Amino acid sequence: MRLFDVHTHVQFQAFKEDFREVLKRALDSGTWMINVGTQRDTSEAAIKLAHEYDEGLWATVGLHPIHTSKSFHDAQELGADPSASSGFTSRGEEFDYEIYKKLAEDPKVVAIGECGLDYYRLEEDTKAKQKEIFEKQVALAHDVKKPLMIHCREAFADLIGILKNKKEELRSPRDGGPGVIHFFSGTTEDADELMELGFSFSFGGVTTFARAYEKLLKHIPLEKILLETDAPYVAPVPYRGKRNEPAYVLEVAQKISRVKNIPVEEVAEKTFANAQRIFL
Ligand code: NI
Repeated sequence: MRLFDVHTHVQFQAFKEDFREVLKRALDSGTWMINVGTQRDTSEAAIKLAHEYDEGLWATVGLHPIHTSKSFHDAQELGADPSASSGFTSRGEEFDYEIYKKLAEDPKVVAIGECGLDYYRLEEDTKAKQKEIFEKQVALAHDVKKPLMIHCREAFADLIGILKNKKEELRSPRDGGPGVIHFFSGTTEDADELMELGFSFSFGGVTTFARAYEKLLKHIPLEKILLETDAPYVAPVPYRGKRNEPAYVLEVAQKISRVKNIPVEEVAEKTFANAQRIFL
């Protein structure tokens, strides 16, 4: 069975000691991966790592909305187990279009992001900056003809507004549409509006323990669903509280199989094909 973890971060510090083993466990189990950049250094690291593997590993480049201003983010807020106490302080980064464009043109780069809007804890006065930097990344995706990897938290009305305004720029030469909303946490109405624009959705470990996601998983057709781990964050049951890793994406496939009442093999096959259509 082949699986595709379309949103993970094995290039992060959390895997510093054993990233080779983590990647091997995933690849040996038939799991392909996209390491997602969140700022310039993690984007560059994702590209470098992807070049070390002939198959099964790609990268994205982008500036995450929480890295557009200086702010502290605790581990729980990022979805870690309540026992986790640490976090990180984002130093804030300006979005340099030309630098990101150069990175984005690398053949191992399959999407722009994660980019988007995150209003969960940021101050009101950072919203304008988040929007501006997101719009630049929408333009970059159009420029380099690659799909978007979108992060959105408590900001769906603004996100959908921007995407509708930029509808012309969302056209992609690929069959898979303009991109993916990762860790999708909007309503079924948000999902409908985003599907209207051509977007797909990736779901991760949270679906295995938060029942609220079952409604969304039933509502969205399998043709629009992808699998992710967002590792090292938010490990699925039965690994909750541990560091997440791409090989655990099987738990997400199994959850979707149960909710939609279809064989896990079919979930694996269709979501793998969806990922190929969008990114490769
Ligand atoms: Ni992520």
